Amino acid sequence: MSDRPLLIVILAAGKGTRMKSAQPKVLHAVAGRSMLGHVLALSADLGAEGIAVVVGPDMEDVGAEVRAWAPDAKICEQRQQRGTADAVLAARETIAAHSGDVLVLYADTPLTRRASLEAMRRQLDKGAGVCVLGFVAADPTGYGRLLTDSDGALLAIREHKDASQEELGVRLCNSGVIGFRVGDLAGLLERIGNENAKGEFYLTDAVEIARGDGLSTSVVTCEEDEVLGVNSRDQLAAAEAIWQQRARAEAMAEGVTMVAPETVWLAYDTAFGRDVVVEPNVFFGPGVTIEDDVHIRANCYLEGIDGKSRAGLRIAAGAKVGPFARLRPGTAIGRDVHIGNFVEVKNATMEDGSKANHLSYVGDARVGAGANIGAGTIFCNYDGFNKNLCDVGAGVFIGSNSALVAPVKIGEGAYVAAGSTITRDVAPDSLAIARAAQTEKPQWAAHYRIKMAAQKKR
Ligand code: UD1
Ligand code: MG
Repeated sequence: MSDRPLLIVILAAGKGTRMKSAQPKVLHAVAGRSMLGHVLALSADLGAEGIAVVVGPDMEDVGAEVRAWAPDAKICEQRQQRGTADAVLAARETIAAHSGDVLVLYADTPLTRRASLEAMRRQLDKGAGVCVLGFVAADPTGYGRLLTDSDGALLAIREHKDASQEELGVRLCNSGVIGFRVGDLAGLLERIGNENAKGEFYLTDAVEIARGDGLSTSVVTCEEDEVLGVNSRDQLAAAEAIWQQRARAEAMAEGVTMVAPETVWLAYDTAFGRDVVVEPNVFFGPGVTIEDDVHIRANCYLEGIDGKSRAGLRIAAGAKVGPFARLRPGTAIGRDVHIGNFVEVKNATMEDGSKANHLSYVGDARVGAGANIGAGTIFCNYDGFNKNLCDVGAGVFIGSNSALVAPVKIGEGAYVAAGSTITRDVAPDSLAIARAAQTEKPQWAAHYRIKMAAQKKR
């Protein structure tokens, strides 16, 4: 790959009014990560030496997202949206301080593949001054058209509103992604005017100006779905669908069985080992790692990162989860653990071979190796102010319908009788019974029936 350093300029100034949202468009998520986050991650993957993100005024939350994904990125404000060339010039200082290639990406276009951008860099390596990522549009309406000569060299980009009838017939379109190998990029962009249908400073005009300077210009093409730009909620859903389809195909190619792949929802960072089986209707939020031979049964909801915690979720080899299980952040499921139906686990370690098979809440806990959590057990972790820990030793047996009131420790090998409410520590290997003792009144029911029947007759 190229040894010239790479600067990536990401345009994120658009508010996205068609989203009808209080949130800036580029913060809307695809596969559990903002679109901007996707583009920043792609930039890092490409080995960018520098990243500059162009934001609009009052976009502090966009700045925060930039810092979360790319702490070293420069944030540049474009005060007024006067066109894509003007937007790139908002990063003028960063561009001037950089010597090497510059790649411009849009933050609302989260599906571009790394391979396409690498192909563009190879064109720059071969001597192109400007390289544009193009695609053949099923419907080219609205896109800039790539005007090429008979050898396929790029002559100019004509915006839809400025195109002649003949030019409108061109289906090879501009994705918006554009790469430069120009000594003085800011100097080139400053020569762009705004005498066009929109009165904007078009970045696309850089092509003709570069050619005028004697630079060569070229096109790399990609699939249309890589350059889907999101302007509305239905386009956001379309981007999500494409992303999911790709991710499922990749997971299956790496040895995951999906019984009904179209019903499995993955996050940007879902990690699978080999021979994992995922049954229908399973949702993976961010931060989930699944090791080899894990079986996820139908209708599970798994997430390692949510609004409150980024502690992750790991499921070790051979574990069985579900159907209808919910696993939340901070959870480590050990080898060969069984988590059954209607079980919720949060911020808990289930050590190897332990089981919680039915109807339980396991929160803020350690469950030792081989322990068995009976049906309907609740870990009472919250006192209204604090979360408290339960420590359940290895080999413990918790009888059904028990409540463990944290903080509490159940010693190794102990038994808790079914229906107990445990508020004090239990010593290893002992039996704790914490329920009303059973009493019995012989023949009570028979007498009761006779008495009541006599009353009714009267
Ligand atoms: C642009 C291209 C067009 C291409 C299309 C692909 C130009 C002139 N046209 O058109 O050839 O086919 O994208 O989708 O570049 N932005 C700013 N500041 C501005 C203006 C735009 O940050 O002042 C950002 C927008 O938020 C957006 C991106 O740049 O993310 C593209 O701008 P947009 O107005 O959507 O350009 P298009 O008309 O779609
Ligand atoms: Mg656009």
